Amino acid sequence: MKVKLAAAPEPKTLLAVIRGEGDAQSTGFAALDEATQAHLAGALKTFGFKGAKGKTQVVAAPAEAQAAAYVVVGCGPSVELDAAAMETLAAGVYHAVKGLGAEGLSLDLRGYDSAAVAQAVFALHLASYRFDKYFGKAKQEEAPTLKTVTVVADDVAAAEKALKPLKAIRDGVLFARDLVSEPANVLYPESYADRVKKLDKLGLKIEVLGVKEMADLGMHSLLGVGQGSARESKLVVMQWNGGAKDAKPVAFVGKGVTFDTGGISIKPAEGMEDMKWDMGGSAAVVGTMMALAGRKAKVNAVGIIGLVENMPDGNAQRPGDVVTAMSGTTIEVINTDAEGRLVLADALWYCQDRFKPQFMIDLATLTGAMIIALGTDYAGIFSNNDELATRIGEASKSVSENTWRMPLPTQYEKQIDSKIADIRNIGGRPAGSITAALFLKRFVNDVPWAHMDIAPTAWTNEQRIPSVPEGATGFGVRTLDALVAKFYEA
Ligand code: BES
Ligand code: MN
Ligand code: ZN
Repeated sequence: MKVKLAAAPEPKTLLAVIRGEGDAQSTGFAALDEATQAHLAGALKTFGFKGAKGKTQVVAAPAEAQAAAYVVVGCGPSVELDAAAMETLAAGVYHAVKGLGAEGLSLDLRGYDSAAVAQAVFALHLASYRFDKYFGKAKQEEAPTLKTVTVVADDVAAAEKALKPLKAIRDGVLFARDLVSEPANVLYPESYADRVKKLDKLGLKIEVLGVKEMADLGMHSLLGVGQGSARESKLVVMQWNGGAKDAKPVAFVGKGVTFDTGGISIKPAEGMEDMKWDMGGSAAVVGTMMALAGRKAKVNAVGIIGLVENMPDGNAQRPGDVVTAMSGTTIEVINTDAEGRLVLADALWYCQDRFKPQFMIDLATLTGAMIIALGTDYAGIFSNNDELATRIGEASKSVSENTWRMPLPTQYEKQIDSKIADIRNIGGRPAGSITAALFLKRFVNDVPWAHMDIAPTAWTNEQRIPSVPEGATGFGVRTLDALVAKFYEA
């Protein structure tokens, strides 16, 4: 959908104005109320519309009016809206209007500052995202009728300026959603790496390591996961150097299992198709790097994604195999379906070994147990560093992505002890997400580190938040971008 900024509403489109409860009204509503005299007020009275938050009311426009019809949008007691409230409101307007049949909408935000206006534009982009490339003509035609939204602002130039960084973040979120939505026959390690390589146009430095390079580095934990697949495993390293030359980078590491069958410990057939999104952590890392580069963030950042396909095959890893990770730690692979941690083990170790980052954050759709613990609205945070964990929590809150910190009790470490190797890759049913995180902790060496288990939030089967439609969410991009912006930019 097209979203543009203008100083006045587009004629012949629906015109949306914000109305609060009581007397204090938005500039747009007050102007329209005055221009239409008793017409609008009378209609709202008829419908019993009082400006309640989340309510919208369509009102026919008089014949001589410029607008095709009016859409009055309730915002509750106050017409003053912070970024989060504006995001919810604008995305909500999109959903209320998208299927009404009209192709054009003007959203009157006169009276709001440029930051709020920009947030509304951003929200409209996020809310109207669709992954429709595989729809044929008939299904394409079922698309929402709304094609263009004109956001009306007092100062268009100032709003455009405020929108610039948000556009970079939007591009990151939407790119992540595209990656996650792609089926695994289209997106596999090599094709994924090829897509990421093209991001060098943003100024990102990108390297791709294949099996040979990873074997030379000793990454047998990661490589063991991919060895049953016909698709070659890849490790992609992205660098954004926007900070001081000698400043230590921040680092993001992502699980990129392009398809997780479970391997020889194969998953049940029902729902296995969901495992195309087992690369959601890596997509969040790619999206974050895009956002940082796109808005020229004043920071040095590294993004590393481990791309593998977990398949059962004559060459696949067996339960009971012992592999040696790049760190030298030996791992007994009890369950080949606990593969994400095996991938991250080498990616994390490589990251701290090569880049000496100020912190590392990994993102992964790591455990089904995380969904059992938190439900589908919260991602779990695990960290060896209180400051980092608190900052991630603050950043996520500021962009309406829900996270919740989980404990990392050392006494559970015995659950991943192995009888024949240093550790084993599963810790049993109790605290499954925690033992997975404790496994990762073995590969972070003393670096401040946090693990985000985004199994609950990488994908949504229904739209819960207006700016996050059903399907791939792009979860994590906004949190990590905000984290950098708030705490780590020069
Ligand atoms: N990718 C899955 C975790 C997952 C499951 C994410 C469902 C999203 C929805 C992961 O690789 C996995 O299979 N984990 C196992 C671990 C177990 C074998 C210890 C799990 O959660 O069952
Ligand atoms: Mn698995
Ligand atoms: Zn997995």
